[in-house]
Order: sequence, then structure tokens, then C-alpha cells
Amino acid sequence: MADTVGADHAFFSTCGSSISVKTLMISVTGPEEKLLINRNAHKSVVAGIIIAGIQPVWIEPRWDADLHLAYPPGPDTVEEALRGHVDAKGVLVVSPTDYGTCADLKAITEVCHRQNKPLLVDEAWGAHLPFHPDLPEWAMNVGTDACVTSVHKMGSGLEQSSVFHVRGDRIDPAVLKQREDMLSTTSSSPLIYAALDGWRRQMAERGHELLASTLDLARETRAAIDRLPGLAVLGEEFTGPGKAFEIAP
Ligand SMILES: Cc1ncc(COP(=O)(O)O)c(C=O)c1O
Repeated sequence: MADTVGADHAFFSTCGSSISVKTLMISVTGPEEKLLINRNAHKSVVAGIIIAGIQPVWIEPRWDADLHLAYPPGPDTVEEALRGHVDAKGVLVVSPTDYGTCADLKAITEVCHRQNKPLLVDEAWGAHLPFHPDLPEWAMNVGTDACVTSVHKMGSGLEQSSVFHVRGDRIDPAVLKQREDMLSTTSSSPLIYAALDGWRRQMAERGHELLASTLDLARETRAAIDRLPGLAVLGEEFTGPGKAFEIAP
């Protein structure tokens, strides 16, 4: 899996990204310690804060009052938050958001690494990103320290399929695995593991081809809907200064 997606280490989990994001959090942050987190995080992140006694430093997402949706924070916002909390143990960002809006992961990774802080990405909605260049940036390709994906969301895994990915030396994969062992079930489902591995193989062998036709289909569908009277498909409106860096089609 790691070879396929450009990570140094990867491993499967059968407890959903709800457990995987908590695992990431407690791999870098202890009780009473600070973690910078964007405020539109999934409820599993909020549960992780409560259970682990982490002190969250909230990073405000960019809120679009016209479209009523949130964009991930920009690198400037993350930099400012890090400057104000030099004792923070790291940064956790959700990208893509459930609106499909994506952060500038390369720039945020650079901001974090300038302060020698790990960037953790809740990439639950991004399991497909490594497999086609026309999709938004994949965390491992820009040197992000760790990310998790839910394969039942944007891949063909069974429910609760999740994958951990690690790059560099700010996150110790052995510690990550131990923390996962603390939180997850002792009765991992072989069905989930088998489906995950089948998906990994399918993506390694045919991911580019399958996603290319999916992207074509998405473009055609968007254009067809856009032609219907009274309907306009949003797209370009999501990106630009103060908005998302890019969107997942
Ligand atoms: C952004 C985000 N992170 C984490 C999760 C949790 O993932 P899972 O359903 O695999 O436990 C979700 C689920 O919807 C999510 O949207």
C-alpha cells in the first residue's frame, strides 16, 4: 500500500477513520497538550479531544456566507495560529471537507515543517486522490507527515475500512501502531482486511484507468445538469483567494 501511494509506511485498520483520527491525535499529543485543529472537524475529532484530554486550539475555517459552506484554512491562518502557540504539538486539518473543498496541503505542510511540527490530515474523503493526477493534491505527495483515509467513502472498501499513511520522521510508525492497538478492536474483521487489500490491488493495477473514466463521466454529468433550465452546477465558485485551494470533482 505504501509503495502504491508514495508513503513511507501504511497500514490498514478495520475501525473506520473515526478511530484512525483519534489514533493520529494521541500519537503526537498527550493530556493537557495543545493541538491546532480546524474548527469544522468531524465529530470523531471532538470525541478524541474529550477522551484524550487534549487542549484544542481552534483554527477558524473560511466560511462562505453566500454559498453556506466551509473552506479549509489557508496556510496564512495556520502560520498565525502556530506563531501564537509555539508549544502546540502539531496541526490537524480536514481535507477534503465533506463539501469537497480542499486545502493547500503543500503550503500548510511547509508552514508546519518550518516550525518542526507534524501536520496530520483527516483525508477520510480522499482515498482515491493518489490514483489520478487530475484529482486534488494527495497528502503523501507533498510531504505531509500523516493522513488517514476511509476506503468505504471514496474507494470500494467495506464500511469501517481505514488506512494510515506516514511520511518522514516526525511520526514514529511504531508509536502510531501501538496507539491504534490501544483504541481498536481485538477482533479485526478479516472481511474488511480482504476487501481493503482487494481495493488496493485494483487501484494499483487499474486505478488510473477507472478514475479517468469516472472523471469523464462526472464532467459529462455536470455539463448535462448545467444545461437544464433553472439549474447551475457550482464549481469555479469554490476556489480562489480566501476560498478553497482546489475542489474534488
Ligand atoms: C471528515 C471525516 N473524518 C472522519 C470520518 C470518520 O470516518 P469513518 O466513517 O470511516 O469512521 C468522517 C465520516 O464521515 C468524516 O467525514
